[in-house]
Amino acid sequence: MNRTRVIAIDGFAATGKSTIAKKLARTLDYRYLDTGSMFRTLTHHAMQQGFLSEEKLDDTAFQVFLENSHFHWLGTALGFNGQALGNEIRSHEVAEKVSHMAAIPFVRAFTLKNQHELASGQSIVIDGRDIGTVVFPEAHHKFFLNAAPEVRAQRRWEELREQGQKVDLQDVLQNVRDRDKKDSDRIVAPLRKADDAVLIDTSELSIEDVFQTMLSHIQ
Ligand code: DC
Repeated sequence: MNRTRVIAIDGFAATGKSTIAKKLARTLDYRYLDTGSMFRTLTHHAMQQGFLSEEKLDDTAFQVFLENSHFHWLGTALGFNGQALGNEIRSHEVAEKVSHMAAIPFVRAFTLKNQHELASGQSIVIDGRDIGTVVFPEAHHKFFLNAAPEVRAQRRWEELREQGQKVDLQDVLQNVRDRDKKDSDRIVAPLRKADDAVLIDTSELSIEDVFQTMLSHIQ
């Protein structure tokens, strides 16, 4: 019998979720799904195509766009409407708008449906904010990562610098704090630890430490 398994990793922005989730998926030979990249892709498209200006979204036009859109696998990578996701979804501009987009109920209904379809029939490691609570409450293993905001901002700032983006560390810290607040306060699927998730504070831990902790829980 083909038994598929789901490992859910939730937590605050820049806690190392995606690096660790990728490493786990590679080690276990599971698929990896980064759900933050889905919200980032939708935000990027909404900005590019003029559906989103400042914090105002043209709901009707964007809903029509979503009706004709879908996420899908391109090999083992994630695609959107036939295209691979590019690095532009990681920009600071997208980061500034993405929490607003992720709080919109019809956007979350769209991503939820797509996440279920993408995970169907696969063993998968999936990271995000609401995976253990809303998307896969029945996941076999659940983890929730946190770290001090200053540590997370420093990590994100280094990542952006490596990509050649010039941003101020204080702006990145402000963005991390704003997103924590917006992600935690939203009405639909707020960022919250599932009661049965294992909590790991990554402030003082290396990626390898966190990875080994998770692996020992899984095995
Ligand atoms: O993990 P990330 O920083 O790439 O996520 C980008 C944004 O998407 C984050 O601010 C919150 C939102 N998000 C969400 O609301 N639910 C998820 N499952 C994943 C991300």
